[in-house]
Amino acid sequence: MKMKEGFLWGGATAANQFEGGWNKGGKGPSTADMMTGGTHTSPRRITPILEEGTYYPSHEAIDFYGHYKEDIKMFGDMGFKTFRMSINWTRIFPNGDELEPNEEGLKFYDDVFDELKKNGIEPLVTISHYETPFGLTQKYNGWAGREVIECYVRYCETIFKRYKDKVKYWLTFNEINCLTIDFGAFMGGGVLVKEGEDSAKLRFQALHHQFVASAKAVKLGHEINPDFKIGCMIAYMTLYPLTCNPDDILLAQKADQIQNMLCGDVQVRGYYPGFALRHFEEKGIDIKMEAGDLDILKEGTVDFYSFSYYMSNAVSADPAKQEEAKGNLLGGLKNPYLKASDWGWQIDPKGLRWTLNHIYDRYQIPVMVVENGLGAVDVIEDDGSINDDYRIDYLRDHIVEMEEAVKDGVELMGYTMWGCIDLVSASTGEMKKRYGFIYVDKDNDGNGDMSRRPKKSFYWYKKVIASNGEDLV
Ligand code: BG6
Repeated sequence: MKMKEGFLWGGATAANQFEGGWNKGGKGPSTADMMTGGTHTSPRRITPILEEGTYYPSHEAIDFYGHYKEDIKMFGDMGFKTFRMSINWTRIFPNGDELEPNEEGLKFYDDVFDELKKNGIEPLVTISHYETPFGLTQKYNGWAGREVIECYVRYCETIFKRYKDKVKYWLTFNEINCLTIDFGAFMGGGVLVKEGEDSAKLRFQALHHQFVASAKAVKLGHEINPDFKIGCMIAYMTLYPLTCNPDDILLAQKADQIQNMLCGDVQVRGYYPGFALRHFEEKGIDIKMEAGDLDILKEGTVDFYSFSYYMSNAVSADPAKQEEAKGNLLGGLKNPYLKASDWGWQIDPKGLRWTLNHIYDRYQIPVMVVENGLGAVDVIEDDGSINDDYRIDYLRDHIVEMEEAVKDGVELMGYTMWGCIDLVSASTGEMKKRYGFIYVDKDNDGNGDMSRRPKKSFYWYKKVIASNGEDLV
């Protein structure tokens, strides 16, 4: 089917995973810059002091900083209507708490937005994508400290005012719900959890600070430019009950509520839902709030709901049925009906249709899929081509189901495929786990000349966009 006029087809990236130039143009170190490379089997490490001789993939990444004209031209050639990118907070406020911004950093994004405009591409900007100024981690333990709200709002005010005529679509925090799980403390909140500390208490406190900061940013953004469309961004971790045993059904509902719905409810509806309050009480999580916080949450609700979707998992209340599967942020159980990617993420296109309906039924506001894609190993043939039919199949199957959801009545704004150009994997730090329509010559250890070349999927996606979603063959 054809999508409605103005549907935002495009691709998505994050500064810390593709921009590089980590110490150029006055940029300061971010949390991402303190994370080493890793692999499938050996996890990334957080090194509060940089180690000599250790490889840090964000430092150079794929050097969009030095290649942005070439890259944007290729996005334009594919016909992108939108490009999701994030601003490196530390390019604007190197330590996070300065009172004056770094002009060189601001100028860089002016150039990027101008280049996008030249190519007919509308930017969609994530304000904070897994990148907190490391200075704020050192001073306040990242978002665990309330002081960070003010720093973030100053950063938002700076970029809203500077780019108010260049950017219309904003997302306040990438995958804000990653703070509901252990893995997300440092990546999502710049929070270091010391031995013996209660991770959940710190994380939910940090999450509250992000909710307040997000609501303040939404309110402020609308004052600066009433045409701004500001959204939330949730990592939708779709979970099925493994069986129809009511215990499995309730377990799946509870996990969905805490991991997925809690954040959407606060950011879309403007208040903590009852199940969250019960969860906090049962877990002894006593969130410190200031007078006025709950009013701010109500005043700063988002205009649209965006999310990432890669896979689904299953849950079971039965201790004998716990065969684990891997996943985005969070694992779960193997679903016998699904196949998995090379990284163990279970591929479930129909789950996207289910998830879109599930979200829209609840919130009734425009929805956007801002991440979806397949991390895979690509091979360059002797003639230089890369025949990534597996990626085309994955994307086609998901787009088909997304279109079904639109037929179901979901108000869908757009679709930005994740990692439209090969970039550093967030979870493993690898380059080998490639998502792109565009291949970048760089390996896990940083070797390669960083030249770019289109894969077969590049030409396929170009047709998809040109036909507005009709030609998926
Ligand atoms: C999302 C993140 O969780 O998944 C991205 O927003 C990330 O930053 C993407 O890259 C894919 O995950 P990974 O671990 O394969 O890079």
